[in-house]
Amino acid sequence: MSVIDVEGGVSVYSFVSRIYDRFPMVCVLLTTVFLFCPSSFASAASQAKLVAARERGRQIFQAHGCEHCHGANGSGGRAPDLSNIGRRWSKRRIRHQITVGGKSMPGFADVLSRDQINDLVIMLEFQRASKK
Ligand code: HEC
Repeated sequence: MSVIDVEGGVSVYSFVSRIYDRFPMVCVLLTTVFLFCPSSFASAASQAKLVAARERGRQIFQAHGCEHCHGANGSGGRAPDLSNIGRRWSKRRIRHQITVGGKSMPGFADVLSRDQINDLVIMLEFQRASKK
């Protein structure tokens, strides 16, 4: 490394600390990058988990008869349109509806696992069509 040659055995460490002394802004910038990188990786990972959960939710919705009443992809039919349910209802209320059922809707507590219901809730929470 040329720095080491020129300075005659100066360690990489002191080279770096010299840069930090001379350019405090670089220090601030690097620190910021180091602090935020892991958290943005983490949020990317949790984002990927959400995408996967939504996809599973969509499949459960098809496979367990929701479509039968709510139409393809929940676009409405014999039962309410769910395309903007995420705007209208809280997660908690959606979960309750699926678990317990409603006036004309059966409850799914005995049919679906907690994880499956979670996936449905996450998927439905994301349904936020602006119109309808
Ligand atoms: C037998 C028909 C039927 C099936 C099957 C069915 N639903 Fe429903 N669902 C209804 C009806 C009817 C309503 C309207 C309110 C009521 O009767 O409780 C409703 C309401 C809802 C609501 C509240 C929407 C609103 O605006 O009132 C959600 C959320 C929902 N259903 C989700 C699901 C999910 C998820 C599944 C599958 C696990 C499912 N439903 C299966 C008939 C059904």
